[in-house]
Amino acid sequence: MKGIILAGGLGTRLRPLTKVTNKHLLPVFNKPMIFYPLETLVNAGIQDIMVVTGGNNAGDFLRLLGNGKDFGLRHLHFAYQEGEGGIAEALSLAENFADNDLLCVMLGDNLIEKSIRLYVERFKKQGCGARIILKEVTDPQRFGVPRLEGDAVVEIEEKPAVPASKYAVTGIYLYDHRVFDIIKTLKPSARGELEITDVNNQYIRWGQMRYDILDGWWTDAGTIESLLRASNLVAEKERSQSQALNPQDWTGESALLFKFFGML
Ligand code: G1P
Repeated sequence: MKGIILAGGLGTRLRPLTKVTNKHLLPVFNKPMIFYPLETLVNAGIQDIMVVTGGNNAGDFLRLLGNGKDFGLRHLHFAYQEGEGGIAEALSLAENFADNDLLCVMLGDNLIEKSIRLYVERFKKQGCGARIILKEVTDPQRFGVPRLEGDAVVEIEEKPAVPASKYAVTGIYLYDHRVFDIIKTLKPSARGELEITDVNNQYIRWGQMRYDILDGWWTDAGTIESLLRASNLVAEKERSQSQALNPQDWTGESALLFKFFGML
């Protein structure tokens, strides 16, 4: 399986932070945003990864990530998106790289708490078609929203005024190589972009879309509010991980238990 991270766009919802740099280079707690999706793919066992970037400061990605050595990779691929054609157009730039393999596509501004390995393994068994990962949210109207009937997604609506469910379609997508044929048939949406939701709806019409519900937290980081939320969630995760490693920092019940078992 190959991994593709989409990290283009002008990040208009983050201005003025993105006036002179790319959204995905901004800090989320203690690392640049792009590090998180890269770690997510690597932790899921994906080694062959392309970063599609564009807009402001695309060259900085090369300086920052190099060949991916810091992530345990031997090589990292890059593509450059000219203009602002949207997520699906950015993905189309990875067609040669994809070379008929199964793909795990991740938006560069999406962060998660846990691993996606289980969903990736399920998609490998599925073998073809597509798989999306859903997460319950309090503000579904900001996202692609699925309409669910029993075990099936029957439609996805992009940023609906009246959401059909409480779920968001996260920016983690599993596709077979036919995704590139679908993208070639797309027309720009009202916001002038080729929409990933239109890609997903085509797989739904073919009866080839499955889904999982994500375990652990998920957030995007594409608005001022969600960027702050992302930093807070990562900070909290780091804190609880370092506390688990340093039991002397434990307080309350867990400290008592530790002391008790330490005495045995
Ligand atoms: C994009 C997708 C949307 C998805 C979201 C996840 O939205 O179009 O379907 O739910 O990413 O982050 P955008 O960030 O382009 O508004």
